[in-house]
Order: sequence, then C-alpha cells, then structure tokens
Amino acid sequence: MTQQIERPADFRDMVDYEKGTVDRRGFVDPDIYELELERIFARAWNFMAHDSQIPNLGDFFMTFIGADRVIGVRDNDGNPQVLVNTCRHRGNAICRADEGHATSFMCTYHGWTYDLKGNLVGVPGFKEVYHEELDRENWGLIKAAQVDSYQGFIFANMDPEAVGLDEYLGETGKIGIGTIAARGDVAVAPGIQKYVMPCNWKLPTDNGVGDWYHPFISHASARMIPWQRPPLPTPAAANNPFAVRHLVVLGEYGHTISGPRATPAMLEQDPWRESPKGKELLGPVGIKARGFPGIFPNVWIVNNQLSLRLPKGLGKCEIWFFTFVDQNLPKEQQQQVVFRSIHTFGPAGMLEQDDGENWNQAGKGMAGTIGRRFPLNHSLDHKLAEVINDETGPSHAETNVSEHAQLWLHRAWSEWMAAESWADLKANHSTMPTDVI
Ligand code: FES
Ligand code: FE
Repeated sequence: MTQQIERPADFRDMVDYEKGTVDRRGFVDPDIYELELERIFARAWNFMAHDSQIPNLGDFFMTFIGADRVIGVRDNDGNPQVLVNTCRHRGNAICRADEGHATSFMCTYHGWTYDLKGNLVGVPGFKEVYHEELDRENWGLIKAAQVDSYQGFIFANMDPEAVGLDEYLGETGKIGIGTIAARGDVAVAPGIQKYVMPCNWKLPTDNGVGDWYHPFISHASARMIPWQRPPLPTPAAANNPFAVRHLVVLGEYGHTISGPRATPAMLEQDPWRESPKGKELLGPVGIKARGFPGIFPNVWIVNNQLSLRLPKGLGKCEIWFFTFVDQNLPKEQQQQVVFRSIHTFGPAGMLEQDDGENWNQAGKGMAGTIGRRFPLNHSLDHKLAEVINDETGPSHAETNVSEHAQLWLHRAWSEWMAAESWADLKANHSTMPTDVI
C-alpha cells in the first residue's frame, strides 16, 4: 500500500506567490498527478496538430489529451475533428498509425466502423444478431467537446463549459503562436521528434517557459561546440547573462512569454518580426519579446519549433518537437532550418539531453520523505520589475533574468487544480499584476 502524501486542503496554498515558493509535493504525489489529468488536461485547450499536417480530407494525426489517445482528422466537410481512439464496443483502438490517411476507422476486434466525424456507420451482424436494435446514433466515438484553430494551429478541448479558444489564448497565447506563424507560409516538416524523459511533465514545462538562468551552466559544454545552431539571443552579453534585459508577459490561465528583449541586432537576424505579418500577429510588445512562449498547460514554443511535454505517468514525460519551415524558402534553406532545429533540441540535439539529466535528478531529489517537505525557490527577480501598462499590447515588464514565468505557471497550475469547474476557474484565476511582478 502506498502512503498517501499529506497536502494542503486548498491547492492554491501550494504556491506562495508572495514569497515566490512552490510546494514540491505537486511533482511527486501520484494522487495529484491523477487529478492533473482531470482538472488540467481534460479541461484545457490542448494543441493537436497544424493544418499542414492534415491538409486533405481524411488525413489524420494521432496525439494525446492527458492520458487519452486522440485522433485529429480532417472530415469530409474539411473540418478538423478530434476523436478519442477507443472503440465504443469493447475499447480497442480504432487506429494504430501515428499519422496517415483514412476514409473511415474500422476496429480490428469485431469490426465496428466509424466515419471521419466519429459516427458509428458499420456494425457486423447489425441485422442478424443485434436485430437492428442497437442505437447506433448513441454509440459513436467519444469526441472533443470543442475544436478550433488559430493561424492554422488546431486545438481541442474536452470540456463543453470551457471558454472558447480565442478567449483562452488571449493576447499572450496568440503572440506565442504568432512567433511561429509570422515566419511566413509555415508548414510542419515531416517527422515529429518524440522521446521519453524520466521526469514529471512540469519540470520540462517550467524549464522551457522561462528559465534563462540555467543555460550558461547546464549547457556550458554545448556552448563550446560550434554546431549550426540558430543564433542565441544573447550576443551582447555572451559572457554575462545577467547583463541582458528581459521582457516578460504573463497571460491569463498560465500562458507566458519570458526571455531577452529584442535588440536591434536581434531584429536584424529575425526580419520576419517586423514584417507586415509580424506586426499584425505580434504587435509592438510581441515584436520585442524574444523569449520562448509557453501556452498552458504543456506547449513550449522555441524559435521555429513547437514542443509538447506530454504526461505519461508521475515521473515520465514524452517530449515531442514539431519543426516549422517557411515553404517559400529555397529548398536548400528549408533543409538547413530542419538540420539546425534537430541539432538543437530533440534526441539528436545539443541541449535537451543536458536538461533532462537535471529534471531527472530534481524529481529524485523532491521524492524523498524529507526532501519533499521543503519548497522550491522561484524568487529570482520577484517583485523587482515594474509592469508597463500602455496601448502597445499586453501588460509587460522589463526585467533581469528571472523566474517570473515559472512562478506564474505554477500559480496558474494551483488555480486550475483548485477550481471545481470551468466557471470556478474563470471567476478565480489571476491576471498579470498591474504594478509590479
Ligand atoms: Fe471494437 Fe469490438 S472492440 S468492435
Ligand atoms: Fe536547457
């Protein structure tokens, strides 16, 4: 019998925003993990796929919403559908390929068959043994309650009570997506990189969305090797990360952007930021925000890549990288973009292997009976940055290297976990402070 870990009655007490601390038990308690699947993944808008992955009627891409395996498929009307990959008869998978093309999905157990909208359209023995009494209309596949897209990025939500995608993303989430979409006519390069890390999903998530404190230590060896990486946004302070000014945006429901504020040299490296599309999708604040956005709960946007941190158990996370390429670039340049991307992150990348070692060890450190009693410290630059509220875009702050985004992520996590329903979450979630962060 496993010993139940005692925790505060109110999840919001697990993050002390005033002190900048986070309770370690959220990373090591199996009951909390199970509740996360219910209260976060089954309620949030989850990224499914990009339009370019399923351009034709019948194209599909398999992914996950929490522990549920789902199929994102373009139906015969051209709309994306998100179907839970479990036969309504006795539970078998109705699709076994990671991606592909189908005209229908037939279960290989007893042959129930579903169309691209999930309707049950074929039942062996319907006349002979079911005597036409099986109510086929009520035995279609389980479907996402809401499916919508922004700039070709398709999201799905299992909760019919959730706010719409537009409201969910808000300005911060849209800027996040805009930092890929504004790069041109982007499409996902074939082949999603997938690998498993032995760590809780929140560790890679929180590292991605705003930890600019670690690269100079964790990636010291990678920095010594002249591989063809995208230029790091720190040229003026290659030897002193603390001299770089940062820009932080904290969005509703846990979305974040945090990282270096773009300098003129960086804008020259990324001309798409000030292109007409860049101006439209990012606005003045987004153009300057050179950090790596996070879309709650588990999307990390890093340069031209989108990463998912998929929960696969309390101490197991599957990491996916989608690499986006501007289709208008000459083929040779497109290949270079892919080459650089897969050599930066992913199984062949220079960076996330170093990170993974830290996340694995951090999980072990937090799991101890004594170790888990003491909070984590996310107080870097906390309460030191003045918030700028003007007409140029969402409220933002110019900061030092900080842990603002990570603390915000955990604070949002505590609010999602505490909320009994979407109505509760909508009424009781934080918005970015207007004075100081
Ligand atoms: Fe699918 Fe029986 S489990 S047809
Ligand atoms: Fe890293």
